[in-house]
Amino acid sequence: MRPVILDVDPGVDDALAILMAVHSPEMELIGLTTVSGNVPLDQTTENALKVLELAGRTDVPVCMGAAKPLVRQPHYTYEVHGPEGLGAADLPDPETMPAGDAIDFLIENIEARLGEVIVVATGPLTNLALAEARCPGILSHARRLVIMGGVLHEPGNISPHTEFNFHADPHAARLVVNSGANIALVPLEAARQLWLEQDLLLQRLAGREDALALFCAAATQTVMAFETQRYGRKGMHLHDPLAVGLSIFPELCKVQPLWIDVEPDGELTAGQLVVDRRPFVIDGHLVGNQVECAVKVDVPGFLEVFLDRLLK
Ligand code: BDR
Ligand code: CA
Repeated sequence: MRPVILDVDPGVDDALAILMAVHSPEMELIGLTTVSGNVPLDQTTENALKVLELAGRTDVPVCMGAAKPLVRQPHYTYEVHGPEGLGAADLPDPETMPAGDAIDFLIENIEARLGEVIVVATGPLTNLALAEARCPGILSHARRLVIMGGVLHEPGNISPHTEFNFHADPHAARLVVNSGANIALVPLEAARQLWLEQDLLLQRLAGREDALALFCAAATQTVMAFETQRYGRKGMHLHDPLAVGLSIFPELCKVQPLWIDVEPDGELTAGQLVVDRRPFVIDGHLVGNQVECAVKVDVPGFLEVFLDRLLK
């Protein structure tokens, strides 16, 4: 079993990623850290607690992290994830409470198991950046950071050149990418290959009236309506579950090592991932850090594992 911390901003696809993780025996889920992202921090934290309670996993601590990006103002995505971040789902108020500070939790757990902990980050990277700032070098003591964020060359999903998680806190993304940590990146190009058809989900939910199935049906409604309008097909992309999948089944993605950095400040480009492909510059002098980027996803293989784990 691999020790894993999920750093999340639930968010519908974060919630699906959490459910996939708690039902994956390959993972020792040591905790969730929450960050401001799709919705404000109080709400992402409440949502994380609710989803763990739904799954009967109140043994997994939830620690609260950053309430705002390092420099920029928060940018919420209610239109994608609904007014409370979990679509049309209406889970009971949580009975459990947050267990502490996310930055301390990240530092303490990475330090306690040097080179072992995998951090899967599916929101803005503010918590990871603050951990690195508080304890320089800490991120390179994680076994790996698996990050959903950035877009390599396709159009962005929040601005012409940016993906939401990097756009929401570009200064944090830059700091983490340049931390020297071992990073596997799930850019938007990879996530865009992974489409969950609404009909496929409905087929798998047919005849089920349990709380988990009802949650999956209701939570996905808002994002499916949004993405159906945007892409002309009924369904949604599985950005964040892909990061969880990559952390336990690396064979599900073909990866390519690329030198990347992040533009922190441009008026039109803050959060843009910059790929240095200059063939005439030797490796150590390319910008940023070398990162393994997922470029090709085994979609049927992933969907099988995802649906199996999600609906356990
Ligand atoms: C990312 O943005 C968020 O809205 C999703 O949860 C995902 O982490 C995709 O760009
Ligand atoms: Ca997310």
